[in-house]
Amino acid sequence: MINPLRGMKDLAFEDSQKFVHIVTTAIKIARNYGYSYIETPILEETALFKRSVGESSDIVGKEMYQFQDKGDNDVCMRPEGTAGIVRAFISNKLDRQDSNYRFYYYGPMFRYERPQKGRLRSFHQFGCESFGEASVYEDFTIICMIKDIFDSLNIGFTLKINSLGCKDCMPAYREKLIAFLGNIKNELCEDCNRRIDTNPIRVLDCKTEKCQSMLSGSPKLLDNLCEVCDSDFEKLKLLLENMGIKYECDSNLVRGLDYYNKTAFEFVSNEIGSQSAIAGGGRYDRLVEFLDGKPTPAVGFALGIERIMDLVILPEPKREGYYLGSMNEDGIHKLLEVANFLRKNHKVTLEYKSKSLKSHLKSADRAEAKSIIFIGDDELANETLWIKDLETKEEKIIKIDSIESSL
Ligand code: HAM
Repeated sequence: MINPLRGMKDLAFEDSQKFVHIVTTAIKIARNYGYSYIETPILEETALFKRSVGESSDIVGKEMYQFQDKGDNDVCMRPEGTAGIVRAFISNKLDRQDSNYRFYYYGPMFRYERPQKGRLRSFHQFGCESFGEASVYEDFTIICMIKDIFDSLNIGFTLKINSLGCKDCMPAYREKLIAFLGNIKNELCEDCNRRIDTNPIRVLDCKTEKCQSMLSGSPKLLDNLCEVCDSDFEKLKLLLENMGIKYECDSNLVRGLDYYNKTAFEFVSNEIGSQSAIAGGGRYDRLVEFLDGKPTPAVGFALGIERIMDLVILPEPKREGYYLGSMNEDGIHKLLEVANFLRKNHKVTLEYKSKSLKSHLKSADRAEAKSIIFIGDDELANETLWIKDLETKEEKIIKIDSIESSL
């Protein structure tokens, strides 16, 4: 027997219903915020992720599903959605238009991580990317959109925000941090030591307790912002407060991808164990330029669909459509035509086996049909259908040839 690969799972039955419920809820809200659908390939050139997510990140350094294809191209299964969408934005020359573009997407992402609860190797994200808008109002609006999605799904969260500064304030902060880290180098873990040279701010995010205690006196990002970044961050906090959206400032929130600047945020749930981040995102104003496009400010987020699946309660299933059954083969022939007609507008379950009415009624219940249509001996002789509404219990008999006007 062949099983799915480790860290990968099928979405079926209740999980697939939850998946559809989450995605349709998120799409409806994203469309209300002016986002339109974009789909990009799952496979991209490896260089795309190296240049955007960053070579020093765990995602690129350790977790990529990377291989040479038959044409000897170095390719990679996307570990996240943003890079491919920025690539598409540039490939389609949208960076040369002077307008705003807002896209939503959903689909599978691949990271060769150590699987555990809430951490898969193949998982699904729903995300949004907004291009062309530098205002912090857009960061605020995106956070409102995510809140609306979680509220609609009845999912509680804690919002954490930070600012990662910009090209004006970041280099000086980086130097300060490197100097601080140099003094405690020997006390830090191997990963942190590697990061001091490649991407020192990622050290702030280390999950090791000893490293975190050593870092308590480190220079803080939020104390080292330039005037513009500081005033934008203050504005964001004020907007959130005015809107009644609770947040926590977390100066160590640096995100695991290298492309961010200014606003960074994460939505966390305390109901799902250690893999608690249910959505994350932020601003990435320099990425378009970095991938050879015209400089374009951008901000976005992605939420982890599997992470919120256990938190989602499906709406009560409603009885829907028709169950069709007969006592004999000739009746089934007639019902094949009836089914064809009804399926244009209704959900139809057609039973091919001849059975008694009692047995069909049981099956109609199991199929959660709203009505049953039955052909017995009398109905066959009279060219009629017996119909019962399984909710109101109302029964009627109609002529088959009047079905169009009767139903
Ligand atoms: P990310 O924080 O790496 O950001 O992933 C976003 C969300 O995907 C996480 O908050 C989590 O819910 C889910 N997730 C990540 N890894 C896994 C995994 N191994 N198994 C299950 N769920 C997972 C990004 O990917 C950015 N592209 C977000 C973004 C969009 N930033 C700007 N635009």
